[in-house]
Parts: sequence; structure tokens; C-alpha cells
Amino acid sequence: MRRLRLAILISGRGSNMESLLHAARDPAYPAEPVLVLSNRPDAKGLLTAEAAGIPVAAIDHKTYGKDREAFEYHVDATLRGAGVEIIALAGFMRVLTPWFVSRWEGRMINIHPSLLPKHKGLDTHQRALDAGDTEAGCSVHWVSAGVDEGEIISQASVPILPGDTADTLAARVLPEEHKLYPKALALACAQIAEKL
Ligand code: GAR
Repeated sequence: MRRLRLAILISGRGSNMESLLHAARDPAYPAEPVLVLSNRPDAKGLLTAEAAGIPVAAIDHKTYGKDREAFEYHVDATLRGAGVEIIALAGFMRVLTPWFVSRWEGRMINIHPSLLPKHKGLDTHQRALDAGDTEAGCSVHWVSAGVDEGEIISQASVPILPGDTADTLAARVLPEEHKLYPKALALACAQIAEKL
């Protein structure tokens, strides 16, 4: 199978990005990272990607003020310039407009730290605790116009234990994210390849 040209979009630490880069070191992995892009020029993940020899780009959303589409136009042009075929959002903390989503629909996936459809948006672990949930987890889904609402590709769950805080729960979920995302991205690539 031909490897799809992958862009990973980040905003910070980039540990999920790292797990994707690690998986893609296998030449048989169905995606080939060609770009890591951040909306924050100081994102730690950019340094990690550079050290791994992956081309990086920083497009600071603050430069564009409230004009989300102007920011996204620049992101879109950069992705297309790099010949990107699939996007993995990995801790990318900007809500994307319907314009951008429609440009990449069926080609863009996201990882979210909850068992969707539960706890869309932010503060997912605290909200799982507040709701009295007995389990938490992470989901990888196709990105659609509704935030965290696209079709789910794959999920992983962990138990919520007595005495858990948002931090202890996040620490239990994160390793599951790192295992889940490369597998889910491979599934997404297979679905795209079927349509090619
Ligand atoms: C991850 O837990 C990811 O699921 C979450 O941000 C963290 C990024 O960590 N994403 C979202 O909350 C998206 N709404 P990382 O930069 O180390 O991958």
C-alpha cells in the first residue's frame, strides 16, 4: 500500500505526535509524516519533530486576531504546499471553522481524551470525575463540523479509581492515547485507501 502523506497538527507538548512519528518509522506503516505544524511557535513538540528530522511549520494564530479563516487559509495553503493527504490533530487546541473542515473532511482525524460522546470540549477528566463515571478513556474520530462529534474510529478505556484526581486520571489515560492513536490512524488510512 502507498503511504499517505501525513501532517500532524499540534499546540504544545506533542506526546501523541511522538507516538505517531515512532509508529511511522516502520516503512510498512501506512502514513509518512511530511509536516508537523503548530499554531504556537513555542510548542515543545516542534523541537521534538525537528530533532526527528521532520519538516516543521509554525503559524501563530495570534497574528490573525479574530480572523480565524485568514489563519486557516495560511494553514491550508501550507498543508497543500507540502502535498498532505491526511491530517492528524494531536493536541491541536484551535476549533476549526466549517470552511477548513469541509476542505479536509474525510482526510482529518483527532484524538480526544474522553470516551466520546461523553465530555466533548475541555477539562474532560475533571468532568468524568464530577459525573461519577466509573471509567474514562480516549477516542480517535473523524473531524466533522461539530466539535468532537465526528464518527468514532477507535476508543480505549481505563477504570476510574477511588481517590483519582484529574491529574492521576490524565496520567492513566495518556499512555492509552499513545497506543490508540497509531492504530486508529492506520485504520483511517485503510479507509481512505479503499476510496482511492
Ligand atoms: C492529549 O491528551 C489530547 O488527547 C488532548 O490534548 C493532549 C495533548 O497532549 N487533546 C484535546 O484535548 C483536544 N480537544 P500531547 O500534546 O502530549 O499529545
